[in-house]
Amino acid sequence: MNKIILFLMLSMPVIVYAEASSTIAWTPATLNFVKQGNPVKGKVLAESCTGCHGEQGISTLPETPSLAGQLATYTYKQLRDYANNLRSNPTMSAMVQGLSAQDSADLAVWFSTLTPSLGTPNKPSPNAEKLVQQGDGKRIIPPCFVCHGENGQGEKMDIPALTGQRGDYLSKTLVDYKTGQRHNDVYSRMRLIAQQLKDSEIKELALYYQRNPKP
Ligand code: HEC
Ligand code: HEC
Repeated sequence: MNKIILFLMLSMPVIVYAEASSTIAWTPATLNFVKQGNPVKGKVLAESCTGCHGEQGISTLPETPSLAGQLATYTYKQLRDYANNLRSNPTMSAMVQGLSAQDSADLAVWFSTLTPSLGTPNKPSPNAEKLVQQGDGKRIIPPCFVCHGENGQGEKMDIPALTGQRGDYLSKTLVDYKTGQRHNDVYSRMRLIAQQLKDSEIKELALYYQRNPKP
């Protein structure tokens, strides 16, 4: 009995004060708001982004993601999460300071219209291929493809496209989920998975997704 009370006392504050992972909820109104983003305005705003994210949204800088062709809803959520200090990175937190929700929607739609990177061809490790296609039941790792899509193209709302993304960025952000440095994934979907991955597997998976699936 005492144990139960102790357990409740220890777990209650966690439940009560647990920080929300994101303030973005995919209501029809939010979806519509992002969909109505103005790419012409987004293109103008993007002039302050291209120095790092590339002229056509394809990054050539280490640990800096490409944004071209990404789902607008995913990009919008990330920009709002940085603005609300729910995803932290010194560079991006500074970049989003002056951006309104409307600016974020305009930018997100603009970047979604650009042609995604073809990626870097490489021979994927059999282990990465297995994790992507089958996951690992023993470690409760679901196959990546069930959420990120057959070709890593992403899925509606907040599941990002991974294919063609820079491998060094994919690696870094998976390590950030693993350590909890990145914690804006609703329902901890990525943190729980990354915690189960060995650092060597994170590198293999990053290479898997950076490659061009149809070389
Ligand atoms: C000085 C370089 C720099 C500039 C300028 C910059 N970014 Fe970034 N951006 C980064 C880096 C580095 C990251 C990775 C941060 C992290 O790991 O959280 C990033 C991450 C992002 C992400 C997350 C992508 C993902 O796949 O999760 C988005 C979206 C983004 N930037 C949009 C923008 C927009 C829009 C602008 C212009 C308003 C901009 N950035 C300007 C360096 C920059
Ligand atoms: C249950 C669904 C689900 C599964 C399974 C899943 N993911 Fe994710 N993943 C997500 C969601 C949702 C996000 C976006 C979270 C957020 O908003 O930060 C994400 C984000 C990511 C990102 C960040 C991309 C970026 O641009 O910053 C990477 C990398 C990633 N996942 C890799 C993987 C890998 C590798 C696997 C398989 C081992 C996997 N995911 C399995 C749902 C999933």
